[in-house]
Amino acid sequence: MMKILVFHLLYLGIVHGRKNVLFFVADDMRPNIGAYDGPDFPSPVHPKMHTPNFDALAARSLLLKRAYVSVALCNPSRTALLTSRRPDTSHIWSNGLYFRRYGGNFTTLPEYFKQNGYRTIGMGKVFHPGEMSGNDDPVSWTDPYIHADDDYIRADNLLIEAVSEERAKARPLTDQLLAEYAIQALKEVAPKARSGEQPFFLAVGFRKPHITWNFPARFKEYYPLESLRLPPNYYAPVGMPSIAWHNFVNLTRFNDMQPYNVTHTGHINFTFPKQITLEMRQAYYSCISYIDYEFGRVVAELDDQGLANNTIISFWGDHGWQLGEHSEWQKETNFEDATHAPMMIHVPGVTDHGVVTEKLTEFVDLYPTLVEAAGLPKLNMCPPNSQNVSLCTEGTSMVPLMTNPATNEWKTAAFSQYAEKSNGIDGDAVMGYSMRTEMYRYTEWVNFKAMPLYRPMWDELQGVELYDHTKDPQENYNRADDPSYKDIRVELSRNLRLGWRGALPNRRI
Ligand SMILES: *[C@@H]1O[C@H](CO)[C@@H](O)[C@H](O)[C@H]1NC(C)=O
Ligand SMILES: *[C@@H]1O[C@H](CO)[C@@H](O)[C@H](O)[C@H]1NC(C)=O
Ligand SMILES: *[C@@H]1O[C@H](CO)[C@@H](O)[C@H](O)[C@H]1NC(C)=O
Ligand SMILES: *[C@@H]1O[C@H](CO)[C@@H](O)[C@H](O)[C@H]1NC(C)=O
Ligand SMILES: *[C@@H]1O[C@H](CO)[C@@H](O)[C@H](O)[C@H]1NC(C)=O
Ligand SMILES: *[C@@H]1O[C@H](CO)[C@@H](O)[C@H](O)[C@H]1NC(C)=O
Repeated sequence: MMKILVFHLLYLGIVHGRKNVLFFVADDMRPNIGAYDGPDFPSPVHPKMHTPNFDALAARSLLLKRAYVSVALCNPSRTALLTSRRPDTSHIWSNGLYFRRYGGNFTTLPEYFKQNGYRTIGMGKVFHPGEMSGNDDPVSWTDPYIHADDDYIRADNLLIEAVSEERAKARPLTDQLLAEYAIQALKEVAPKARSGEQPFFLAVGFRKPHITWNFPARFKEYYPLESLRLPPNYYAPVGMPSIAWHNFVNLTRFNDMQPYNVTHTGHINFTFPKQITLEMRQAYYSCISYIDYEFGRVVAELDDQGLANNTIISFWGDHGWQLGEHSEWQKETNFEDATHAPMMIHVPGVTDHGVVTEKLTEFVDLYPTLVEAAGLPKLNMCPPNSQNVSLCTEGTSMVPLMTNPATNEWKTAAFSQYAEKSNGIDGDAVMGYSMRTEMYRYTEWVNFKAMPLYRPMWDELQGVELYDHTKDPQENYNRADDPSYKDIRVELSRNLRLGWRGALPNRRI
């Protein structure tokens, strides 16, 4: 009996060719990667980035040039991606809340692989750690969750810290540790994955380039200060409603930021002096090159284990980040710089020669994509109010884009949202619903009733933004009240309120 069962599993594994998944996420990483450079990119990549490993993966992946987050904040963005439910379904639009408690008992992406016989291992920051994920959502993993933590921030409380090689050797940084743990995990899962006995889903969550910016000093050499520049738009958009702006007071609570007055960071159009602005940008870029290096070590181990031709590799950054653009720092807005994030998916035998798509894609799309690419039973589209449906998707599998990246059978908009003035799950908020179309970004800030209604009050408008990407890719001029955009605004408003179902190619409302 046992033998028959084992044989059956082996047979299934080999015949159906279920692929392993090596799943990477970086924290607060905007698409500042060499592979994203090019004239078609919304905001050109500058300076020239040193990211050889990300670029190499991009060259054999489906590269999503226009992937948008559901919310430009860690917990809600990760929750949306890992459950394939949008914030109005999961009820998670802020940090602090756990979807299983406030949304529904949804089957997560790693959990679905686990239910299909995979060994699922998570490490670093995949879900947002702590209460808001029930401590890394234990039900998602077959193995105990693996944490990697350094103590640089506790010891030094510095925003920017270039760490000498000697010190990094004695006290490894978080992402150095994480790469080591990932390499060990690959060694452990490799034999059964090679024989087809048990495939794996290994999730590795890097902590950089999230603040604080502590990184091995050698990565700074790629970004001499004199080669860097100030943000091209170190000011808020003309005509921006104040509700659209988020203060970044937290950025100045570190010892090295004391000279820069904390109080004023709460003001629109506040700018730091030139020198520190450049140093902050330099530190952010250095952190990206640092995790590129650690990421490269893990991918090399996959090759060494002979698993490359049967393992899907996905990489994404949990949202964008403002490096002074709009006089903003951090994420926590609905601007392009915060909602646009890197994403790429390598499927061996399918994307090996590199496929680039400029179709609008959304973070909820990754779950059904990996499921289909790995050969698991496909997900159904969620019905409205799917809180009681454990397994379904509010995204669209991107597998068709791997063979037809310019297809016209695709969604016409990507949706993001951000809550300001949020008073928790049972309080109210002002929700900024934002929609990116081929040509425009359109946002309405409206009063939002939280528990138990969870509903936007569309006629209680607190601000409207309309940016014309054909003329203004940096989003510096709000045209919402410009009479020459009157008809466009009406049309965009109608589509925003129809929502994501209304933007599907066959309008499956
Ligand atoms: C949630 O679903 C999981 C299976 O995915 C089940 O084991 C668990 O008991 C459920 N929890 C609740 C509170 O219903
Ligand atoms: C911020 O600066 C820009 C550019 O000078 C200006 O157009 C805008 O009105 C300013 N915004 C506020 C709120 O002061
Ligand atoms: C500042 O950081 C603290 C602790 O991480 C957090 O609770 C708070 O919400 C942050 N404030 C803002 C304005 O982001
Ligand atoms: C910042 O400025 C405010 C108001 O001018 C002042 O009260 C405060 O002490 C200053 N803080 C620092 C850290 O310099
Ligand atoms: C992967 O490579 C190994 C070793 O080169 C080979 O034995 C195996 O057949 C390959 N599998 C696929 C799916 O190509
Ligand atoms: C989900 O199930 C609970 C308990 O049966 C019920 O009270 C609730 O109304 C259901 N929610 C939806 C959206 O169907």
